[in-house]
Amino acid sequence: MLKYDKITPEGTRDLMFEECAAQNAVVGILRGIFEGRGYREVMTPGFEFYDVFSTNSMYYPQESMYKFIDNRGRILTLRPDSTIPIARMTATKLRGCGLPIRLYYAQRVFRNQPELKGKLGELMQMGMELIGLSTFESDAEIISAAAEALAACSGRRFRLELGHVGIFNRLMSELDATPDEKVRIHGHIVAKNYAALDDDLERLPQSQTAAILRELPRLFGGAEALDAAGRLFGGYDSGLMDMLGYLRRVYGILEELGLGNQAIIDFGLVNQAEYYSSLVLKGYIESNGEAVLSGGRYDSLFKDFGEDLPAIGFAMQVDSLAEGLAKAEAGAPSQAGASEAPAAASAGNGKLRVALTKGRLEKDVVRMLADAGYDVSNLLEKGRKLLLPIPGTNIEVVLVKAADVITYVEHGVCDVGVVGKDTIAEHGGVFYEIMDLRAGICRFVLAAPKGRDFYGGYGTKKIATKYPNVAGNWFESKGMDVQIIKIEGSVELAPLMELADGIVDIVETGVTLKENGLEVIEEIRPLSARLIVNVASMKIKKKGIDMLAASLQQVLGRGGRP
Ligand code: PRP
Repeated sequence: MLKYDKITPEGTRDLMFEECAAQNAVVGILRGIFEGRGYREVMTPGFEFYDVFSTNSMYYPQESMYKFIDNRGRILTLRPDSTIPIARMTATKLRGCGLPIRLYYAQRVFRNQPELKGKLGELMQMGMELIGLSTFESDAEIISAAAEALAACSGRRFRLELGHVGIFNRLMSELDATPDEKVRIHGHIVAKNYAALDDDLERLPQSQTAAILRELPRLFGGAEALDAAGRLFGGYDSGLMDMLGYLRRVYGILEELGLGNQAIIDFGLVNQAEYYSSLVLKGYIESNGEAVLSGGRYDSLFKDFGEDLPAIGFAMQVDSLAEGLAKAEAGAPSQAGASEAPAAASAGNGKLRVALTKGRLEKDVVRMLADAGYDVSNLLEKGRKLLLPIPGTNIEVVLVKAADVITYVEHGVCDVGVVGKDTIAEHGGVFYEIMDLRAGICRFVLAAPKGRDFYGGYGTKKIATKYPNVAGNWFESKGMDVQIIKIEGSVELAPLMELADGIVDIVETGVTLKENGLEVIEEIRPLSARLIVNVASMKIKKKGIDMLAASLQQVLGRGGRP
């Protein structure tokens, strides 16, 4: 029997010496700031009843919670978040206390992360909650504390991003679309998937609501984003203008603090909609591809615990901040390239790293880059080199396998990636998907031996595929049980060898299917190459990314499909 007695579970790690010191340094800095502002510390249990986290609103997907059973058969969960238990605690233990209540916490949260993504499943978080106030002053208090905390942990090299979920919610309530269409549109806005958003909105009745939603994820940047929103919202209802005015006022707080250059507005910042109701914020530092701070106003969360209290707060990722601090002290070069003066929201002196999928897609995309006027000589004569600069630019291309494109981009070591939608559909991930490059066009299909009645009979079908998630989800959506067999390549062999009844695979010309006696039973979805962008890079290196995207768009506009 295998004994796992020398290793720690995936997502956990031992922290030693300097690592402990770096964590303690961050905790000390933040504790000083929070207490200096009159916030008092609370701690909630490491595990709670599952019911606390599965209220009506179900803010956390059950898949991301570690669960176990207590001695009376009740489901417990390791705390995946601190704000929800603090709401529970406040609504019960602090009921009737004078308002406002100012609390802070420094405690670990536990999340079941997707397999082998290199993400921590045990995270140290510190955060503030200001409960019982819904005034502009209370938002200002939290925003300025967030800015001070980020600045102190990053040597002022940070970005603080503001958004307003209320604007999105207002527009969605007016949109003439079915609930399913709305879910899809929400997903496209979160992912800045402009192409899919345009397609979905075009199918709906034309309206100013649809026109504004189309632009929402494209509206991000400095104060100019506020001005652009002002023009776009013109003539819509006063509610929208009021929310915009509010966002402008909040932005003004950061300007007054001399942090205008570190502030970003993103009208597409709606993925925090779980319990946030209006203002949302995210913070980025240069050494991290993911947000190190997230928060916002959550005025309805307390209702789940029988109270009606407005509140605003944020949580910070101590592990990432400590790593950033350790790197800064060791003088390590910044990986996300934000080492330029905080004022410059562009690639600046940092490189713009592009991860390109090797193989089939590579040729098409290199041709597109050449058509766009880039010197692709290093890409054409690469030999065995994997890191290829584009002369005359700050762009550096990295050639990697498809799934690795997503990994590099998600972690922020590459800013941009080119990868097939098949890989995105299979692996998912957190990034922006900003352009359909209309290269590598193919489709996902279900195929089976020609002439056989695939759906006939009662037996559970066996499906061979390189894409177990895509295949699993698709059959699940049809309510059909199948047995999935993961195959690494030449999937068409599986039915021929009677290992499977059918396959789910990509088809380009259809020749491989034909030559192996298979036929398409059902089309699953069309596929093509996409330009994806790390969420922090999108904001920090906007200029460089916009330039690259615009030049590729020009090639597409000229009908320059490879
Ligand atoms: C893909 C796919 C099919 C084939 C389809 O395989 O899995 O086998 O291409 O192309 P066609 O419709 O133009 O015939 P790939 O060449 O990537 O090789 P693999 O199966 O070994 O992964």
